Amino acid sequence: MFLHFFNSILIISIVLAVLSLPISAVESSIQVWPKPRTFSWPQPQATLLSSTFSISAPNQTHIHLSSAIKRYLNLIQTENHIPLVPPILNFTTSTPPLQTLLVFVSDLTAPLHHNVNESYTLTIPTRGPANLTAETVWGAMRGLETFSQLVWGDPLRVAVGLYIWDAPLFGHRGVMLDTSRNYYPVEDILRTIGAVSVNKMNVFHWHITDSHSFPLLVPSEPDLAAKGSYGPDMLYTPDDVNKIVQFGLDHGVRIIPEIDSPGQ
Ligand SMILES: *[C@@H]1O[C@H](CO)[C@@H](O)[C@H](O)[C@H]1NC(C)=O
Ligand SMILES: *[C@@H]1O[C@H](CO)[C@@H](O)[C@H](O)[C@H]1NC(C)=O
Ligand SMILES: *[C@@H]1O[C@H](CO)[C@@H](O)[C@H](O)[C@H]1NC(C)=O
Ligand SMILES: *[C@@H]1O[C@H](CO)[C@@H](O)[C@H](O)[C@H]1NC(C)=O
Repeated sequence: MFLHFFNSILIISIVLAVLSLPISAVESSIQVWPKPRTFSWPQPQATLLSSTFSISAPNQTHIHLSSAIKRYLNLIQTENHIPLVPPILNFTTSTPPLQTLLVFVSDLTAPLHHNVNESYTLTIPTRGPANLTAETVWGAMRGLETFSQLVWGDPLRVAVGLYIWDAPLFGHRGVMLDTSRNYYPVEDILRTIGAVSVNKMNVFHWHITDSHSFPLLVPSEPDLAAKGSYGPDMLYTPDDVNKIVQFGLDHGVRIIPEIDSPGQ
């Protein structure tokens, strides 16, 4: 009897806990990954994204920021992501479609170094342009990734009435790939750097060479690759290396090369 009573209490508590779930689910009805430090969305609602939506960084010229803006605009316009769980929010066409995301960077000169400031704030009001402000270009790129995750569907919808402040907890966030034990074509390396970037990591540690193979073509020491690579079609030329480094910069990902000398 006593046990039965206890069980009932337990079941009631579980039912209450489950019933209260939708309330907390409302607050996080769109999951941004990785979770921003501050995500304030008091009344979850969404509106249409205008078919002429644009991202602009007024008066700011930066080759890698421009490249990231172009990439994200294209992603936003073509991906039409359908969330597995439909977001719990009020969709309304009574607020006008979102036309513009404005990007402001305070310091356009900060290089992509360890511990560079990657903080950003993103405000998407219910009316008027959305605002992304960041100290550096690299923080703006993290904010663009966040914004892209707040757009979904066909026709495109965008979360509005929200404010996000975010900054990474750790300066070094990366992935290591060993291309000495196994050769990976350049395209695979670029795809991996893209994945590093959408997860807001900032380092690609490229373990280029080791005793297993030496795929790096060093113009001053061509024998290293000629004798050390797995084959003439399994090399990284100076052009390949440059392409990988530039691709990394376009994605806010630092390439840290590791060159182990043969026999080490
Ligand atoms: C951009 O520069 C022009 C001309 O210098 C200026 O009139 C305009 O206010 C600037 N816009 C912003 C958003 O700073
Ligand atoms: C949608 O709006 C209605 C009426 O304003 C409100 O009662 C409800 O809580 C809102 N839903 C969400 C998910 O914000
Ligand atoms: C957008 O950000 C800029 C730069 O921080 C600021 O001057 C402007 O007032 C902001 N606009 C809105 C609508 O929040
Ligand atoms: C990064 O920049 C923001 C905005 O300028 C600033 O508030 C913050 O203190 C900076 N963070 C660090 C760790 O310097």
